[in-house]
Amino acid sequence: MPRARRPPEKRYDKKVAVVTGASSGIGRRLAVDLAARGATVVGVARREALLAELEADLQRRTGAGATRVCDLADPAAFVELLGKVEEEHGRIDVLVNDAGTEALTPALPYTLSSSGTPEKQGSTATRLSGGVPTEYRYVLEVNFFAAVAGTLAVLPGMAARRSGIVVNVSSDVARAPEPRHGAYGASKAALSAFSESVAHEVASHGVSVHLLYPGWVPTAMGTSGTDDGGTPPSRFVRRSEERVSALTLERMGGPRMEINAAALPLLAPLARSFAPIAYQRAMRRLASTPG
Ligand SMILES: NC(=O)c1ccc[n+]([C@@H]2O[C@H](COP(=O)([O-])OP(=O)(O)OC[C@H]3O[C@@H](n4cnc5c(N)ncnc54)[C@H](OP(=O)(O)O)[C@@H]3O)[C@@H](O)[C@H]2O)c1
Repeated sequence: MPRARRPPEKRYDKKVAVVTGASSGIGRRLAVDLAARGATVVGVARREALLAELEADLQRRTGAGATRVCDLADPAAFVELLGKVEEEHGRIDVLVNDAGTEALTPALPYTLSSSGTPEKQGSTATRLSGGVPTEYRYVLEVNFFAAVAGTLAVLPGMAARRSGIVVNVSSDVARAPEPRHGAYGASKAALSAFSESVAHEVASHGVSVHLLYPGWVPTAMGTSGTDDGGTPPSRFVRRSEERVSALTLERMGGPRMEINAAALPLLAPLARSFAPIAYQRAMRRLASTPG
């Protein structure tokens, strides 16, 4: 029997795409792959040397593309940058809010081992800003407010043109928060709620807002060992940057709001609803393992 032909890759010719977190990991892969599929890409991050390498790569592949340095802990600077890109290119067709940061934010400065012995935690949120630990403000600023600011900045132009795509990169911890990740989990849960709400609002204006759940990807953040002491998660949730990027570029602009690179984490909310005690026990066991 003749083999079924793979459908051709979705193209983004003549599209102007801004990708944050473009200096490394998933964001870099998305920036390069978007360019390979025809888009003019503007990559955003802080590390200038990595951005220079990316820019050279984009230019080599497509003869176009640029990078911009921006610290997303300052969402106003990001909005200004997006305004300049719109001025320069006439529009932004695709915005990928990929940049993210993670900090361990234990509620207590120590954790209890299974024998009940207190063990010192890696990091403790002690510096306060208006009563809130600074780690919380920083993580929320980068992971949530910068993405909110960016999304709201590009939507009017997209709605006026009745065309546009926003991809906000969330995490499975948004749906199943893990111990010691209060700030990160809250930032991603907030991002998911915001994106879903906006997606419903702007769909009738021709704009697609998506949430990307990458599964576990062995990037700098993924391998930082902050999740469970460095043991890689199950192979059922492991994904490569290439695979996440390819899936995203095929699905974005399509009818499904969520882009799930791994299906297994979708069971966590079900387990929480249907077996709440067992679910809690598992999470509490995790809380007592050194993090
Ligand atoms: N890897 C995983 O398993 C996994 C799972 C779920 C979700 N995610 C999400 O996927 C996204 C990408 O992460 P990754 O895994 O690819 O990790 P990564 O390689 O560490 O990339 C993080 C990116 O965010 C940028 N960034 C961080 N803080 C920034 C700031 N203040 N201003 C501007 N840019 C900033 C970094 O650039 P600079 O340092 O150069 O600024 C870098 O390009 C994140 O949103 C993360 O939460 C990852």
